[in-house]
Amino acid sequence: MSKYIIAITGASGSIYGKKIVELLLHLGHEVHLIVSKTGMQVLSHELLISYECFIKEFNVSSNFHVELEDDFFSPVASGSFKTSGMVILPCSMGTLGKIAGGSSDNLIIRAADVCLKEKRKLIICPRETPYNGIHLKNMLALNDAGACIAPVSPGFYNFPKTLDDIINHHCSRVLDLLEIENQNAKRWGQTDD
Ligand SMILES: Cc1cc2nc3c(=O)[nH]c(=O)nc-3n(C[C@H](O)[C@H](O)[C@H](O)COP(=O)(O)O)c2cc1C
Repeated sequence: MSKYIIAITGASGSIYGKKIVELLLHLGHEVHLIVSKTGMQVLSHELLISYECFIKEFNVSSNFHVELEDDFFSPVASGSFKTSGMVILPCSMGTLGKIAGGSSDNLIIRAADVCLKEKRKLIICPRETPYNGIHLKNMLALNDAGACIAPVSPGFYNFPKTLDDIINHHCSRVLDLLEIENQNAKRWGQTDD
C-alpha cells in the first residue's frame, strides 16, 4: 500500500478526480484528498452533489483522508511525510500558474512544491482550451522542474462507448504514470476476450 495526494481544483472535470480517488482506494492505497474552494463549487455543479456528500461516499474507507486547502499543519505540507506522489486532476490554469511560480500559498500548491523538491512524482492534468502563452510557459517550467503534464485529452482509438470509458482511459494512464499496475482500461493492441 502506498500513499498518494490527490487534488481537485476548480477546472472543469471533477468527475476525473472522483474516479482516480475511487481507483486508488479500490487498489488498496491511501489517499489524501485536497479540494480547492472553487473545486468544491465546480464539483457540486458538475456532479450534482454537495461537497459534503461527495466526501461522505469515501469516508467509509480508513485509507481516505481529507485535507483542507488552508491547513498547512496537514502532513502533506511536509517533505518528511513520505508519499509516492501527487495527482492534480483536474488542474486549473490558476493552480498550475501558482505551482510554476512557487507561491506555496495553499495546501495544494505547497504539496505540489514538496513533491518537486523531494523529486517525487507530480502528475498535473490541466483542463483548459485553448491554451495561451502563459499557460504553455508555465507547463514547460513545470515539466522542466520534474512534473509530468498529462492533459485531460480523450483518445478515440479504442472506440469508447460511454463517458465512463473516456474517464477510465485517462485515469488508467495516470495510474500507469504512477507505476501502479492496473487493468482499468483497454490498451492499444489488447484484443477483446
Ligand atoms: C463551472 C466552472 C468551470 C471552470 N472551468 C475551468 C477550466 O476548465 N479550466 C480552468 O483553468 N479554470 C476553470 N474555471 C475557473 C477556475 O475555477 C478559477 O480560475 C479558479 O480561481 C481556480 O482556482 P483553484 O485553482 O484554486 O481551484 C472554471 C470555473 C467554473 C465556475
